[in-house]
Amino acid sequence: MSEAVGFVGLGHMGLPMAHNLLRAGYRLRVYNRTPAKAAALAEQGAELVGRPADVAAPGGIVITMVANDQALEAVTLGADGFGEQLGPGGVHLSMSTVSPAIAQRLAAHYQARGAAYVAAPVFGRPDAAAARKLWVCTSGPQAAKERVRPVLDALGQGIFDFGAAPEAAHVVKVAGNFLIVSAMEAMAEAFTLAEKHGIERGQIASMLAQTIFACPIYQNYGKMIAEETYAPAGFRLALGAKDLNLVLDAASTARVPMPFASLLHDRMLSALAKGRADMDWTAVGLAVSEDAGLK
Ligand SMILES: NC(=O)c1ccc[n+]([C@@H]2O[C@H](COP(=O)([O-])OP(=O)(O)OC[C@H]3O[C@@H](n4cnc5c(N)ncnc54)[C@H](OP(=O)(O)O)[C@@H]3O)[C@@H](O)[C@H]2O)c1
Repeated sequence: MSEAVGFVGLGHMGLPMAHNLLRAGYRLRVYNRTPAKAAALAEQGAELVGRPADVAAPGGIVITMVANDQALEAVTLGADGFGEQLGPGGVHLSMSTVSPAIAQRLAAHYQARGAAYVAAPVFGRPDAAAARKLWVCTSGPQAAKERVRPVLDALGQGIFDFGAAPEAAHVVKVAGNFLIVSAMEAMAEAFTLAEKHGIERGQIASMLAQTIFACPIYQNYGKMIAEETYAPAGFRLALGAKDLNLVLDAASTARVPMPFASLLHDRMLSALAKGRADMDWTAVGLAVSEDAGLK
């Protein structure tokens, strides 16, 4: 029997990931702010606890898959957080998309207590999480990364390491998400251009995805944007807006002008202002259609 692992955050991503850990034979102690979401996991043998602090065992591993920096801070350093519970030898495996700043803060907190922070954000949507097809980027102390490797192997199809700095993998993740939103905006503009010239959106999307843009982002998001299926959300637009904020913050800190990121940030803001926070983040494509007089 594998060791017990703590798991915090059972949203669109966390729930299928936790299921896969149970299937792989890990004993799980889980916490979710809304406990009802843990019911199915509890039926399959996970232990549901009432506070984030209760998922941690001294020297153990705790995974977080929560929404954003505020949530991560609450479940670690908040009144009921597990930040003091991990203890010497413990590892916080931080898989949410969060800021470099909170990664550095948590890494320093754990280092002072003999524990470790391993950044392990992921690429792949909930269906990829369910199919154990996530791509994982890691950074942090070497020994801790080696210890959590079997856990990550149970969650994804590949691990790419970016060294010791706690924030490095998070920078890679937000840079990757910037590329995805850029591709979504570009596809929405291209498909809308075609549509207004009497060409079916699905036809141009399919041709490009089979030929010069034959890669998962263009194939999967291209289909959604061509079909304009912006709900239900696999990745909520509110979280996409959060990621654009993380990109612009990181760009500002490092003094990297990213004019296209600023434009995409405005697209997200506009979508939020129109009440689209809970649509999929592909709904940035709706604004492209609206601007072209199609909606
Ligand atoms: N969805 C994707 O395709 C995808 C892909 C790669 C990475 N990510 C990243 O993965 C993370 C999770 O995404 P998701 O799509 O699973 O989000 P989600 O469905 O919105 O779930 C968010 C989780 O965070 C918890 N949470 C939010 N605020 C909290 C707080 N203040 N205190 C404690 N818990 C809190 C939620 O608890 P409740 O259930 O109580 O609301 C829920 O468990 C995010 O950082 C996201 O950017 C998502």
